[in-house]
Parts: sequence; structure tokens; C-alpha cells
Amino acid sequence: TRGCLSEISLRELAKHNTKKDAWIALRGNVYNITHYMEYHPGGEDELMRGAGKDATDLFNQVHRWVNAESMLKKCLVGVLKKTWSLDV
Ligand code: HEM
Repeated sequence: TRGCLSEISLRELAKHNTKKDAWIALRGNVYNITHYMEYHPGGEDELMRGAGKDATDLFNQVHRWVNAESMLKKCLVGVLKKTWSLDV
């Protein structure tokens, strides 16, 4: 565990992969990007490429300079559970 933040498995994350319910994992943090969707400068479809996934690599490929951690501070829902955790 890490502080008071709940740990979210990749399986749980994968359930949130629609425009009306979209989560994304970036650098170990899980964010609810549903309401940010319409404000993303790259458009909804680009942002949706990372929905329900650990999109850290994809994010770094397109704009590693963007400070998502700061922009999405209020959208943080938890931390990504390490894949070597046994209780998925
Ligand atoms: C711009 C893709 C996630 C913030 C863009 C652009 C693309 C893109 C292609 C360029 C649009 C253009 O120049 O016309 C993606 C993909 C994402 C993703 C595939 C999912 C993995 C995010 C997230 C944030 C974000 C999570 C922040 C919360 C921005 C910002 C820009 C931008 C601020 C403008 C950057 C600039 O012009 O320097 N995105 N994005 N994006 N995106 Fe994303």
C-alpha cells in the first residue's frame, strides 16, 4: 500500500475504457480523465487511445513535456497496483 490512496489493478483499470467513464494510468498514478476529455488539445480520440491502460509509454511518445501530474491532480483516483502483486 502507499499512503491513503487505493491501489488499482490493471484488470480494474481496464473496465474504465469508455468516453463516459475513462481512467488512465500514468507514471504509477491512476486518473479519471472523463471530464478532462473535452479539453484535451489533441482531441478525444487521441486521449482515448490510453483509456483503461497504463499509457505511460504512449504519453511519453507524444508529449513527455506535458505536466499531466499537475494538470490532473484533482482527477487522481489511486495508484496502479504493481503487476507482481498476487491479489489481482
Ligand atoms: C496535445 C495525444 C494524453 C495533455 C496532444 C497531441 C496529441 C496528443 C496527438 C497533439 C495535438 C496537436 O498538436 O494538434 C495524446 C495521447 C494521450 C494523451 C495519445 C494518451 C495517452 C494526455 C493527457 C494530458 C494531455 C493525459 C494531460 C492531462 C495535452 C496537452 C497538449 C496535448 C497539454 C498540448 C501540448 C502542446 O501543444 O505542447 N496530445 N495525449 N494529453 N495533450 Fe495529449
